Amino acid sequence: MKTWLVTGGAGFIGSNFIHFLFEKYGDTIRVVNLDKLTYAGNLENLADIVRQPNYEFIQGDICDAALVNSLMPKVDIVVNFAAESHVDRSIGAPDDFIKTDIYGAFVLLEAARMHGVEKFIQISTDEVYGSILDGSFKETDILEPSSPYSASKAGADRLAFSYYVTYKLPVIITRCSNNYGPYQYPEKLIPLFVTNALENKALPIYGDGRNIRDWIYVKDHCDAVDFLFHHGQNGQVYNIGGGNERMNIEITDLILKHLNKPDSLKTYVPDRLGHDRRYSVDTQKIRQLGWKPKHTFEQAMAQTLKWYMENKRWWEKLKTGEYLEFYKQNYKKEL
Ligand code: NAD
Ligand code: TYD
Repeated sequence: MKTWLVTGGAGFIGSNFIHFLFEKYGDTIRVVNLDKLTYAGNLENLADIVRQPNYEFIQGDICDAALVNSLMPKVDIVVNFAAESHVDRSIGAPDDFIKTDIYGAFVLLEAARMHGVEKFIQISTDEVYGSILDGSFKETDILEPSSPYSASKAGADRLAFSYYVTYKLPVIITRCSNNYGPYQYPEKLIPLFVTNALENKALPIYGDGRNIRDWIYVKDHCDAVDFLFHHGQNGQVYNIGGGNERMNIEITDLILKHLNKPDSLKTYVPDRLGHDRRYSVDTQKIRQLGWKPKHTFEQAMAQTLKWYMENKRWWEKLKTGEYLEFYKQNYKKEL
């Protein structure tokens, strides 16, 4: 029976990944979820998993070498989702991004090297490439990260690669585009706009709203990570994308239309500092191995909107206290 160490498993993608693992492998695997439970970690995301006998939650920091070293001997596969993940927060206070995203990855890699693991999957991001106006980035393109978030992720990405080259640690690095789906903290574009619209609050569009992101349903991302566990080659980087590039304003219009809310909720606010214009990844490499997304954008967005409509209690309590304080201090004073 293989043991998966999922770090950041109480966050958005990590919790979806743990659901994915249990749906796919049932009681044939063990999952250890190591999560610090920052503002973004939420055990409610795993409420239905918590009693699984083959699931263990450990509240802890990936920077804590003693803790990580105590866990690693019983681990076969590491998937490192743990990170500070919000660009706006990295602009205001980069410290924790450097600590968790770079140093934390180092602690995990070092423990994996010392104890030996079958696979170490480093969840990187398409943001490490920086912005591209025409065409799409291939895995071999240079990295030009432009926010403290993406720069710290690029550091971890290359550090993971160095552990493959230097120590032959069986590392795979994934660079995925923007995810959407259930359990996403309502500070990212889609859950923020959906929940604000449901509350008849303004939707703060940065700049001219014409920045472009490629959107992938979180369950397709989880499926791709598992696919790469089986079919990816050690030491390789794989782009993962949904093939759904949209301007932010298009996403905004889609949300308002679907929820039957007025255009007057659209509120143009000052642009994000260093705002990347467009992200786009070339996904030929993973597609040639035989993977492609299973969900269409239209269907998965409709399911996602339905989930936020039906799970008001999940997000309502997140949009209080520390959350409001952060928004007041940053871009959204007008909210
Ligand atoms: P998230 O912010 O929702 O979750 C991050 C989780 O990590 C939280 O549960 C948090 O408590 C935990 N965490 C933070 N610091 C920790 C620490 N020091 N030790 C242990 N746990 C810690 O993030 P997400 O959107 O689920 O992203 C997960 C990963 O995927 C990140 O590495 C991110 O860079 C990457 N990624 C995200 C996207 C996206 O669209 N969200 C796209 C590509 C890649
Ligand atoms: P975000 O969800 O923060 O993801 P990322 O910046 O990591 O791609 O933002 C997605 C896009 O939406 C990005 O171009 C910034 C924009 N955006 C807004 O216009 N308003 C907002 O309130 C937020 C959170 C994002």
